[in-house]
Amino acid sequence: QKQLRTNLVGRNMIYRERVDSTNILARQTGETGFVDGTVILAEEQTAGKGRLGRVWHSPMGTGINMSLLLRPAIPVSDAAKITLLTGAAVARGLEEITGLKIGIKWPNDLQIQGKKVSGILTEIKADMDQIHYLIVGIGINVNEQDFPEELRETATSLHMEVGRQVSRIETAAVVLNHWEEIYQRFLTQGFTVVREEWKQYAVTLGKEVHVRTINETIHGQALDIDEDGLLLVQDEDHQIHRIMAGDVTLRT
Ligand code: BTN
Repeated sequence: QKQLRTNLVGRNMIYRERVDSTNILARQTGETGFVDGTVILAEEQTAGKGRLGRVWHSPMGTGINMSLLLRPAIPVSDAAKITLLTGAAVARGLEEITGLKIGIKWPNDLQIQGKKVSGILTEIKADMDQIHYLIVGIGINVNEQDFPEELRETATSLHMEVGRQVSRIETAAVVLNHWEEIYQRFLTQGFTVVREEWKQYAVTLGKEVHVRTINETIHGQALDIDEDGLLLVQDEDHQIHRIMAGDVTLRT
């Protein structure tokens, strides 16, 4: 049995059977004051939030729905780095638990053989250049054995991939252990080490992609992530775009 061996993250835990969204509860908790490193876990979310306004499928008792509340003394522009750092930590954790190869599609889709097994939603409360708190929401499909029609082609779970029940408590502990290790490294050594770690899991770099952002769609080659964690895409006119948020699909 693998156990939590962190100092910061998880020193305070909030557990709920059912919430609308652990990120929403984290926000309410964040407003009323909380300890840095608080972890919120729920068995079920009735309004789980995905990126870009999407819904995160989180039925009773099958997945990990978890939000981390943090108060790091870092600038607002560093928030994207925390998302990437979290992706690398979840990837490591899921590899440790399953022994399978995990890939990350920028910025935060964790995949097993091209199917999504986990996603990350980072939300931030800040003014000017001061972060008040940061919420890092992590959703992992653990023991689902089937998905609703619209997700069947694109989603998978650890159970479906390894063919047996997987312990959610152990998976969460392992992910948090890696998370804290990488986070401490980020705080002490900066983003460069995190970036190298993240790139080991990247499935989009070097590939031809379509990137859909809020106001445009860019076609081109995904070159790299830059020192702020933004995606660099070179279009047909050789112009390089730095993408902060968007949806990437591989070009076929
Ligand atoms: C995505 O890939 O679109 C991000 C999904 C993030 C889901 C997690 S589950 C825990 C936390 N609470 C939420 O409402 N969303 C995040």
